[in-house]
Amino acid sequence: MGKVYIFDHPLIQHKLSLMRDVHTGAKEFRELLEEISMLMVYEVTRDLPTKEVEIETPLCKTKARHLSGKKVGIVPILRAGLGMVDGVAKLIPAARIGHIGLYRDPETLQPVEYYCKLPADSESRELLVLDPMLATGGSASAAITFLKQRNCKHIRLVNLIAAPEGIERVQKDHPDVNIYVAACDEKLNEHGYIVPGLGDAGDRLFGTK
Ligand code: PRP
Ligand code: URA
Repeated sequence: MGKVYIFDHPLIQHKLSLMRDVHTGAKEFRELLEEISMLMVYEVTRDLPTKEVEIETPLCKTKARHLSGKKVGIVPILRAGLGMVDGVAKLIPAARIGHIGLYRDPETLQPVEYYCKLPADSESRELLVLDPMLATGGSASAAITFLKQRNCKHIRLVNLIAAPEGIERVQKDHPDVNIYVAACDEKLNEHGYIVPGLGDAGDRLFGTK
């Protein structure tokens, strides 16, 4: 079964509580999401392999370490996942970025796919799937299924807030995928919203409500 990593770092928790606050506007919400994504990716990538290289400082030649192994791909789930891309890409500038367009039907809560464009060599990359909200888990599970249908094998799921139901769904459907979250909240409400959560992440990011 995939592992779940919950980041309880004080900076992440402080920024997350500002994001949860109903009085936080779109500009600050976007900035906070970018900052938290950057802090999270530092831990998400902790086990990436490195190799020894020789470099020259202004003083002498020395051995140092560079990233090695698989290249990284960033795959935001549209729309709200877009808010996490810049934070991750700032720390991993060589990463290629793919997009999966999904929205959750408000009646059935089922994910509906409307877009998918991935880097040509995605199957050989370590893919970080980004979406701030893991609610029922339907969207994340469907996105990971799309990636697997395209032969991608190395997938990590990065969410800001998860509900227990979403974690359970992804662990059941994709036991090979580890999940990285800043918080696991109490429950879903009758409309499929995470409680206490932060509301509709896409609307708060883009000011559409
Ligand atoms: C939100 C969120 C996830 C999904 C989570 O997107 O960003 O993608 O809901 O819910 P689930 O785990 O129950 O599938 P939404 O469908 O609101 O689309 P948007 O990002 O375009 O606003
Ligand atoms: N999508 C969101 O944006 N927020 C939730 O709480 C659940 C799904």
